[in-house]
Amino acid sequence: MDTRPIGVFDSGLGGLTALRELARIMPDEDLIYFGDTGRVPYGGRSKEILVKYARQDVAFLRSFDPKAIVIACGTVSTTALDVLREENDIPVFGVVEPAAQAAVQLTKNGRVGLIGTKASIRSGSYERALDTLRPDMSITARACPLLVPLVENGRSRPGDVVAETVVSEYLAPVKAAGVDTLIMGCTHYPLLREVIGAYMGPDVALVDAGEQCARWVKKQLEWDGLRNERPGAGRHRYYVTDSTEDFAPLASIFLGEDVAGEVEQIDITAY
Ligand code: DGL
Repeated sequence: MDTRPIGVFDSGLGGLTALRELARIMPDEDLIYFGDTGRVPYGGRSKEILVKYARQDVAFLRSFDPKAIVIACGTVSTTALDVLREENDIPVFGVVEPAAQAAVQLTKNGRVGLIGTKASIRSGSYERALDTLRPDMSITARACPLLVPLVENGRSRPGDVVAETVVSEYLAPVKAAGVDTLIMGCTHYPLLREVIGAYMGPDVALVDAGEQCARWVKKQLEWDGLRNERPGAGRHRYYVTDSTEDFAPLASIFLGEDVAGEVEQIDITAY
């Protein structure tokens, strides 16, 4: 048993889709969320900058003495997971392996689609994870740089003409490849689940990388005897790098409920 909090981070609000699942399946855990809202999006940045940002994000979360770090961001998971694991003496979880495992279990025809940020697709990280698990699969990957800004601006609902147009343009080659499973490799994309699902059709299974990661984290903490079995609801705290004013209304869309817990703005450059 370990009552220390779990630190969770993303470039912005996308990681809240993972936090939501963590809170649902482990309501007793204390969760600290860091969203680098002042520097989002990360997805178009170089590896060097991403590693620098990721180190700062983790250093901030480590100031709370967490028992584990969850990289609730496809971009950082695909680019900096190894470095972060090497540099930290607590478990560091990413979204790639859990999402790849889920996709391999779900696909029937062996054709898997993958969408993510430019940095995630460029890294080849998801493809490597899929290939290790099942080498005979055909993977159709597509970078979708406009999706994160759309989601961060609340433009993700069905009926939003811009969201629907952008999604259909990005996904046309993935659909044409006949995939039966699509990995939403960026934690922002589940907000577009309905738009993506409507375009891909009911026969395509959608894999939510953040959700899969949360389930993976629970299992690992249980195996390692690190779960907080203290009775009562866990405490949730949120930290962002841009103004906190816009955070609550948008965050509630990601969380599917009102933000319960403190929200504070911090200066990440101090870490
Ligand atoms: N949620 C991040 C991811 O999963 C978004 C990246 C970005 O900021 O572009 O990749």
